[in-house]
Amino acid sequence: MMGVSLRVLLLLAVVLAPPGTRWPGASRAAAAAAARRIAPLPTAALRRLYDTSNYGTLQLNNGLALTPQMGWNSWNFFACDINETVIRETADALVSTGLADLGYNYVNIDDCWSYVKRGNKDQLLPDPKTFPSGIKSLADYVHSKGLKLGIYSDAGAFTCQVRPGSLRHESDDAALFASWGVDYLKYDNCYNLGIKPKERYPPMRDALNSTGRKIFYSLCEWGEDDPALWAGKVGNSWRTTGDIEDTWKSMTDIADKNNKWASYAGPGGWNDPDMLEVGNGGMTLSEYRAHFSIWALMKAPLLIGCDVRNMTSETMEILSNKEVIQVNQDSLGIQGRKVLSQGKGGCREVWAGPLSGKRLAVTLWNRCSETVNITMRLPDVGLDGSYAYSVRDLWKHETLSGNAVGTFGAQVGVHECKMYIFTPAVSVSSI
Ligand SMILES: *[C@@H]1O[C@H](CO)[C@@H](O)[C@H](O)[C@H]1NC(C)=O
Ligand SMILES: *[C@@H]1O[C@H](CO)[C@@H](O)[C@H](O)[C@H]1NC(C)=O
Ligand SMILES: *[C@@H]1O[C@H](CO)[C@@H](O)[C@H](O)[C@H]1NC(C)=O
Ligand SMILES: *[C@@H]1O[C@H](CO)[C@@H](O)[C@H](O)[C@H]1NC(C)=O
Repeated sequence: MMGVSLRVLLLLAVVLAPPGTRWPGASRAAAAAAARRIAPLPTAALRRLYDTSNYGTLQLNNGLALTPQMGWNSWNFFACDINETVIRETADALVSTGLADLGYNYVNIDDCWSYVKRGNKDQLLPDPKTFPSGIKSLADYVHSKGLKLGIYSDAGAFTCQVRPGSLRHESDDAALFASWGVDYLKYDNCYNLGIKPKERYPPMRDALNSTGRKIFYSLCEWGEDDPALWAGKVGNSWRTTGDIEDTWKSMTDIADKNNKWASYAGPGGWNDPDMLEVGNGGMTLSEYRAHFSIWALMKAPLLIGCDVRNMTSETMEILSNKEVIQVNQDSLGIQGRKVLSQGKGGCREVWAGPLSGKRLAVTLWNRCSETVNITMRLPDVGLDGSYAYSVRDLWKHETLSGNAVGTFGAQVGVHECKMYIFTPAVSVSSI
């Protein structure tokens, strides 16, 4: 009781205070974060279904990741077969396809960019065969395209591909990355000497901070020590699972695991169910649309994992769906989640999440092996049943004729995921 009334007072104080007000004992940012914790959801039904009790409580406060990161990463398609040409051509392709304009702005190099040994001053070295021009020159090129460059290291003795790790080299490596103009660090978990992640990840946070350069810090400890519970104070995103594979089974397993931590995501720090596999060939187009829809709804990082220099038009159509991207990048930053599962084995699923402007994103996801109808009562997803809602189909790009009143449903193909935005239209009593 006490906690709640204090929070309400704090909220009122933040809302009513003139700009520039000083908060005794707490920064204005901390007060705003505390207010956000209880502020975002207007009705009790929404608050019950979309628990945000941990939203905004853990903040790194480096000013980054106010919405989930978007961009590209080399691993899912290229694995270790990378070089500076691929990275440059990818930057070119992000711009020429229009993906950069849609927000995909990080070009992230994964493992294998560095030489197998440190240099004579103990410094990391780019592999001279594959990155002969060095990372600084690559960063300059990527920046000249209006994009940002990400790099990779490991909170252990070695990276997963057995290049030097950054454990106990945090300050030097962070300073080197900053001097190259790096904007993002993915920090992996191999060869970690059995030391707890809570000990291994904060030193790199502090080292990055000390450089004075704003560097997005992406923790990749595979969800082993329940990072949602602590990583918000350490990084801008944290992997909640092991590596994704380009299969329906892997993608759905990971979605379910990531779902568990929904209440911990929020502006500044996001749950990371790993990078996208869209376009890599192991799933059907319906499955890839579902993958993209659910990742967007879960406020997951949207990091493309295919070869953007050579995408099919179907792949491009999925990755460039602006309406789905807008759900992911919504300013409210509340992670959508699984709200209903119906039928045999619960394979008829409804996932939903609140958006700014009293809107709700809703997906009807068929995880059964045949076509099904999925229906819901509007209050089941937290919508106020005294309103009729206009419904926008984000894959058909059309607003349905007639408003939804009371219930809503659709026929959904095998493994398909329909995605909608519900916006209050008129009060039912006025119909
Ligand atoms: C760079 O890597 C790509 C992808 O693996 C490969 O096709 C290409 O031949 C490589 N280029 C050079 C110059 O090594
Ligand atoms: C370093 O941390 C402080 C305290 O959280 C924060 O205000 C500042 O923006 C950070 N600086 C960088 C470069 O991340
Ligand atoms: C482009 O992708 C197609 C498959 O979609 C593949 O067959 C072809 O080899 C790729 N081309 C290059 C240059 O990678
Ligand atoms: C779904 O509902 C429609 C309309 O009520 C009905 O015609 C159709 O047979 C149903 N399909 C399935 C797979 O149950």
